[in-house]
Amino acid sequence: MLDRRTTLAGIATLPFTLKAALAQTAVDAGLRTVPIGSGAIQVPAVGIGTARRYDNPRGEEQFAPLRATIARFAELGGTVIDTAPSYGRAEEVVGQLVSDLGVRDKLFLATKVGVDTREAGLAQIEQSFRKLRTDRIDLIAVHNLRDVDNQLAILRDLKAAGRIRALGITTSFDGQYEPFEAVMRRQALDTIQVDYALDNRNAADRILPLAQEKGIAVMVNLPFGRDRLFTATRDKPLPDWATEIGAASWAQLFLKYVLSHPSRPIAIPGMAQARYVDDNLAAARGPLPDAALRKRMEHYIDGL
Ligand SMILES: NC(=O)c1ccc[n+]([C@@H]2O[C@H](COP(=O)([O-])OP(=O)(O)OC[C@H]3O[C@@H](n4cnc5c(N)ncnc54)[C@H](OP(=O)(O)O)[C@@H]3O)[C@@H](O)[C@H]2O)c1
Repeated sequence: MLDRRTTLAGIATLPFTLKAALAQTAVDAGLRTVPIGSGAIQVPAVGIGTARRYDNPRGEEQFAPLRATIARFAELGGTVIDTAPSYGRAEEVVGQLVSDLGVRDKLFLATKVGVDTREAGLAQIEQSFRKLRTDRIDLIAVHNLRDVDNQLAILRDLKAAGRIRALGITTSFDGQYEPFEAVMRRQALDTIQVDYALDNRNAADRILPLAQEKGIAVMVNLPFGRDRLFTATRDKPLPDWATEIGAASWAQLFLKYVLSHPSRPIAIPGMAQARYVDDNLAAARGPLPDAALRKRMEHYIDGL
């Protein structure tokens, strides 16, 4: 278990204005929203990914930036937080911070199931409810297609029982695209999650168009390719055309590329710093590149 005194002590040190803001309903921050499922659920197009950076924080020094990240995210109207049982202690960390901040009702919590049998799936999912400290998880997706048909059958029952609101599948491997597409064709899904970025566009060949055709919401993992896009553009000034879409940083430019795909993706960049939240949520405001500018962006990155 996490040290509750540590996290509560951290809440007490949040600035007064932030605490006040968290007590209010999330302001309508003008964020682009995207429908999930039948469309009754609308979520902002930029969420938080929790792989690696939330997996094992120790002590207040490491908890504080994560708490500030989630607090700022909720304050700005963000809702989607993506986690997984395989991300170390991330589910438990998210559950504790969300509960201590009192922002559960503002959020769309997404996790995954990634095991090999029905029994193991049922057990792992119950653990997720406990760790996330909630009686309703917004989305559970089958992680990397593991035991996919059995696990989707469980998720379908949970959805019918009202314990989850949406179900889906994930991958981040090109080698899984073919079976991924087959599952998209044979199963009824609310979401898919796939890797897609300005310099990693294979998902746009078949997966994203199929999602669009079938009305499946798209979540994009690895929108920066971890540090790959930042490394490629390090020390380079933003191109002039960045101003056409109001991109004030490379991160915003990369995210606006992802969000502008016609399948209307939700990007879930890994964020463990409040300043990333301000930067990345700004990509969900203002204009997005049109088809011609998207081509220009691809040409630019391919030329580096
Ligand atoms: N198969 C799957 O289901 C699957 C696979 C992979 C990922 N995912 C999900 O997708 C999420 C995103 O993937 P990811 O976190 O691995 O990679 P990513 O989103 O491509 O990159 C995240 C990294 O980018 C940096 N960053 C974020 N915002 C920034 C900003 N505004 N300016 C500069 N740098 C910024 C941070 O690096 P530093 O922290 O080093 O500063 C962060 O760790 C994961 O957290 C996870 O939830 C799912």
